[in-house]
Amino acid sequence: MRKIVLSSLILFSLSCGSDDKANNGQTVINNATQNNNPSNNASNNKSNNGTATNNGTATNNGTNTNNGTVADCIPSKAQWDATVKDRMDKNCGSCHGAVPSFGAPYSLLDYDDLIAGQEGMRKVDKIFPRTADYTMPPNGAQVTHQDRDTITEWASCGNVHPDHGIGLSASREVHVPTAKPENLTEYNFTANDIAIGPTTLDAYECFTFEAPASGGFISRIEAIVDESRVLHHLVLMRTNEAAGQQFGGINCATSNGKFYYGWAPGGDALQIPDNGGATVGPGEKFLLQIHYNNGAGLEGITDSSGVRMFISDTADKEYHMLAIGSGIPSINVAPGDQVESTRTCTVTEDMTILIGFPHMHEIGSEFHETIIRKNGDEESLIDLTGWSFENQPFYDYNVNLEAGDKIKTTCLYDNHTDKAVQGGLRSADEMCFDFMFVTPTTARCN
Ligand code: HEC
Repeated sequence: MRKIVLSSLILFSLSCGSDDKANNGQTVINNATQNNNPSNNASNNKSNNGTATNNGTATNNGTNTNNGTVADCIPSKAQWDATVKDRMDKNCGSCHGAVPSFGAPYSLLDYDDLIAGQEGMRKVDKIFPRTADYTMPPNGAQVTHQDRDTITEWASCGNVHPDHGIGLSASREVHVPTAKPENLTEYNFTANDIAIGPTTLDAYECFTFEAPASGGFISRIEAIVDESRVLHHLVLMRTNEAAGQQFGGINCATSNGKFYYGWAPGGDALQIPDNGGATVGPGEKFLLQIHYNNGAGLEGITDSSGVRMFISDTADKEYHMLAIGSGIPSINVAPGDQVESTRTCTVTEDMTILIGFPHMHEIGSEFHETIIRKNGDEESLIDLTGWSFENQPFYDYNVNLEAGDKIKTTCLYDNHTDKAVQGGLRSADEMCFDFMFVTPTTARCN
């Protein structure tokens, strides 16, 4: 069977906040609370703590590989009946129907037929490699992420997730973290023992926690992946929501924050090199959004995933995050239309951009960013085509800019949905940002 190596995916969903509020929470407790989103019937109400650990416990850098063999997998009949059959009908039925057509070798719509035969040779074993690598359907037909994820996860019993990076092309290298820093305090912020029932599809949960009272410099952030069969993505945001108040009742649909770190299967850690660090204020507040999807309909799953930060008291170089781009563009893209949104900003002082994270939502198609030097010379900062909402990595930039240089950001949108799309915070809206870690922390691009 073919080898499936899932490439880097970092994505961002729901209302990724774009507000640029400062985060100087003065509360100095260091705990992490978690809250139920009422939309998820499967979560519990235990609270967790932001445990500071200093030991070398096994970590998961988020790399999620699968060799394509899934032993002892009998995909759930209940899940087939509940949701998978309809999705197969819709996306595959025109060729793999009761009477196969257009060259499709066989029907794929009967549960008993799919799981008949020796494991590894069954029709169901042929499905997930082809949906994961995007070669089915063959004609590039639009299959929603939710459908592709659910079919793939169901057929592989949760062991394989689609490679949403296929088709994405970028002019910069994806950020690869250097070795983990030694002797730094690790802070684990996990949402513990969240029960993810067999009917949980596309559930967003939000959790809050605070950085240590002493503040410091984040040298590395990585995902703690517990139950990879249901963990779809994590987004870490800074927030000042409820600052000074008791956290509680966080609803993902209404909460917002400023993007900081994201992970999805195949994603990797963010690491500031050379003893540098991203400044974190004392007790600064973070919002962790976790997207769970039990596409396989597995029973008895609980998850304790989250993020781990490595925080140092000192840093040779301080970085902060700038959100550059047209932000929430004033666009109205009719179904079938293509539109672009551009904004140019001017750098206020000499600065270095270390890492960038281009970000749009579902109808983004291309992302281009150009440096316009004071003398008029232009050079590419990043050019990205084949945008995938489900695959948003950090890219290494390592570019020096001088005061007066300009950055021009252009986002292209291609509305393949049947609804008009506008700029806004919701995942159904669009945005245009490059989240960059830059130094010095006083530098801006206005
Ligand atoms: C437009 C027609 C069409 C649609 C829609 C379509 N397929 Fe196919 N499928 C084909 C054709 C033609 C082949 C044979 C050629 C090939 O293997 O690429 C095929 C082959 C396959 C195979 C390989 C069978 C084998 O034994 O090698 C699998 C598995 C498969 N399709 C799954 C799916 C799934 C799952 C969907 C829906 C998500 C889907 N297909 C949608 C036309 C289609």
